[in-house]
Amino acid sequence: MLDTLRGKNVLITGGLGFIGSNLAARLLEHDAHVTLVDSLIPEYGGNLFNIHEIQDRVKVNISDVRDVNSMRWLVKGQDFLFNLAGQTSHFDSMADPFTDLEINCRAQLSILETCRKCNPEIKIVFASTRQLYGKPEYLPVDEMHRERPVDANGINKLAGEGYHILYNNVYGIRSCALRLTNTYGPRMRIKDARQTFLGIWIRRLLENRAFEVWDGRQKRDLTYIDDAVQAILLAAANEAANGQIFNTGGDGPISLKDLAEMIIEIHGEGAYEIKPFPADRKSIDIDDYYADFNRIRTCLGWEPLVPLREGLRLTLAYYRQHLEHYV
Ligand SMILES: NC(=O)c1ccc[n+]([C@@H]2O[C@H](COP(=O)([O-])OP(=O)(O)OC[C@H]3O[C@@H](n4cnc5c(N)ncnc54)[C@H](O)[C@@H]3O)[C@@H](O)[C@H]2O)c1
Repeated sequence: MLDTLRGKNVLITGGLGFIGSNLAARLLEHDAHVTLVDSLIPEYGGNLFNIHEIQDRVKVNISDVRDVNSMRWLVKGQDFLFNLAGQTSHFDSMADPFTDLEINCRAQLSILETCRKCNPEIKIVFASTRQLYGKPEYLPVDEMHRERPVDANGINKLAGEGYHILYNNVYGIRSCALRLTNTYGPRMRIKDARQTFLGIWIRRLLENRAFEVWDGRQKRDLTYIDDAVQAILLAAANEAANGQIFNTGGDGPISLKDLAEMIIEIHGEGAYEIKPFPADRKSIDIDDYYADFNRIRTCLGWEPLVPLREGLRLTLAYYRQHLEHYV
């Protein structure tokens, strides 16, 4: 099925970020012609080191997806658009909701309008998020669960996702969305907790400092990056995905306390402290979340293959080798 991507022109927004750079490397294995667009705003996950092994084989355009002129130029002639650029911090989306709105909502509509005018044949995969479900009413959460975001990021991503499905349904611009759960692995941002709590845990662990676990009883599921990339590629290659929304998931729920203990055990040493949630974080926390991913399993034949323990081992090995480029 992934042969559909062979030799194709692909554009990845957010291509210097965690998921985008890993996706780029996989697409090169399929002989795709890859262009990356990224704004490299320092607070986000873009990092030129993420592509140091592939930089000679991809085109890189440092621009902002909010820039309509850049996007018009970049979208032309592309067969696939992997639309991954986003502001990912839930906390920052509350501190600065308008920037989140501009990137996660308005720019998404603008990209779709550009596609409608300049390249309606393009196929789009949008990186959506489990955050838009809010606090689950039942578990595991399937795609029928209602959307009740608890922060501005969830609201804006929901609108961004909605526009993709709208343009698929009304204009026939083939689009689908993956509601990604916590995704982790090499090339994620570990400087702070803006992208994921796991990032700062890993940084502290490797710097021989205790990391904080807030509460610790909350359950989460995690997808290793290679599995997330495979889900994105299957969605791109499969026409049955058009107009669809899919959850991704992991190999089962785990409490944050158990996750902390697992990562310390894999590393061989380390310490963590259980702390109460800071009040401003608690008010936007979603408590337990894990996904039902039967829809993507049935429709696209996807399931996570990398066990959590193995994914964490690979992740730690990467950052042990390359820590200085990520802190
Ligand atoms: N990693 C996860 O656990 C996870 C979970 C759910 C959803 N997602 C979604 O997946 C997508 C990719 O996330 P990621 O984890 O790779 O994060 P990331 O921060 O590493 O990647 C996002 C990239 O987008 C770029 N970007 C941000 N605003 C931009 C703009 N205005 N113009 C151009 N580039 C811009 C950033 O520089 C960054 O490189 C995001 O849309 C995110 O919402 C990720």
